[in-house]
Amino acid sequence: MNKILFKGGWVVSSRGLKKNDVLVSGDKIITVGRHLSVDAEVVDVSGKLLFPGFIDAHTHFDLEVSDTVTSDDFSSGTKSALAGGVTTVVDFATQNKGETLSEALNNWHVKAFAKSSCDYAFHMAVSDLREDVIEELPAMFEQGVTSFKVYMTYPAMILSDKEIYELLSELKKLGGIVGCHCENAGLIDGIRGELEQKGDLSPRFHPISRPSSAEAEAIHRYARIAEAVDCPVIVVHLSSEAGLEEIRRARKRGAKIYVETCPHYLLLEDSVYEKDFDESAKFVCSPPIRKHNDRKALWNAVRSGEIQTVSTDHCSFTSLQKRAGQYDFRLIPNGMPGVETRSILMYTYGVKKKRITVGRMCELLCENPSKLYGMFPKKGIIKAGSDADIVVFDPHSHGVITKENQHSSCGYTPYEGVKVSGEVERVYLRGELVFSDGEIIKENTGRYVSRGKPEL
Ligand code: URP
Ligand code: ZN
Ligand code: ZN
Repeated sequence: MNKILFKGGWVVSSRGLKKNDVLVSGDKIITVGRHLSVDAEVVDVSGKLLFPGFIDAHTHFDLEVSDTVTSDDFSSGTKSALAGGVTTVVDFATQNKGETLSEALNNWHVKAFAKSSCDYAFHMAVSDLREDVIEELPAMFEQGVTSFKVYMTYPAMILSDKEIYELLSELKKLGGIVGCHCENAGLIDGIRGELEQKGDLSPRFHPISRPSSAEAEAIHRYARIAEAVDCPVIVVHLSSEAGLEEIRRARKRGAKIYVETCPHYLLLEDSVYEKDFDESAKFVCSPPIRKHNDRKALWNAVRSGEIQTVSTDHCSFTSLQKRAGQYDFRLIPNGMPGVETRSILMYTYGVKKKRITVGRMCELLCENPSKLYGMFPKKGIIKAGSDADIVVFDPHSHGVITKENQHSSCGYTPYEGVKVSGEVERVYLRGELVFSDGEIIKENTGRYVSRGKPEL
């Protein structure tokens, strides 16, 4: 069995940094300790940080939506992931109305199989909760799908409060967890109608049409439904201070709510919508980019532990695809790329700016998503017995994010020209070097990760 000894690096975990060598045999980590000396290929990682492979638990690759399909499929999307040090993505298998969950899951296996360069798992996004769909839930668990997503908005995806209640009740019995896209659809529709009447249909009106009150109201409702069922839930892509306040209130009442946010809500402000169409359309995502106070509140919550995980909601469209909404922002396909830039942005604007420690970064990007989504300790930690997914991270490097150095197929990055500290230098996926110095070394070796129950 091929053995690799990583010597002289700083191993990162939620507890911080520890100077340790790491011995890998085949696809597993076998020893973590001081001054290891064995017959193995030695990789000198002196002065480098060794992170567990990052997990991005919120991607949309090869998703058909808004009469188009995301520009990144599992081929380009997972290469982009590796370049960001992401060795596991949890993508959203998405049920179209009329489909069974088995059909949806099979569709996503076909999209990902033999095309993925990092490991992958699936949540199941449920859009059509029929009796036969409820009966399929145990089969999802048998196939390693233990987390689900529901939407409180988007006509193609929305579930009623009653349906959300029923799904949570069933999943409580099975031990699964449900993430929710929380936005009040009626409020958004009402505002959109008014904007249409006034002819206010440029991207500048996108954030106005989806106010933080729409997010806060939906979070409140979701929390109350979860409390009625008495089960833990996840709020995905939290974007606002108003939403965070609802989470605090619900937790005070005793609700068990986990929260995810994304780098774009931590780093960008709504002035991004004041530019010309092509530029502002890049930032049309839902929930929209918010204001300075929201950003500040979210960073504080990331630091304090009120937010458990930072994923990306990578959902990329080219500028040409975004032009579908040139005369009406409602037709712009929603979403942004992000899987490649998350680690470097969190290191630069989190760790280097002293908003979070490097241990907290590891908790947010590795350990917590692994536990929340039933992959711990196989993924998300550098420990004997875990998969040898290792990111060699150079903390001393400096660079600039540009579209030319990205691997996504969308043709731009929302962070063009942003200066960054640190670099994902090398990535090992289950013991194999798959990314080095900006290049994908080995492609299509990603495997499906069948997940256990969430560890909460
Ligand atoms: O704009 C977004 N976020 N698109 C992706 C789908 C979703 O709501 O997560
Ligand atoms: Zn969503
Ligand atoms: Zn999403």
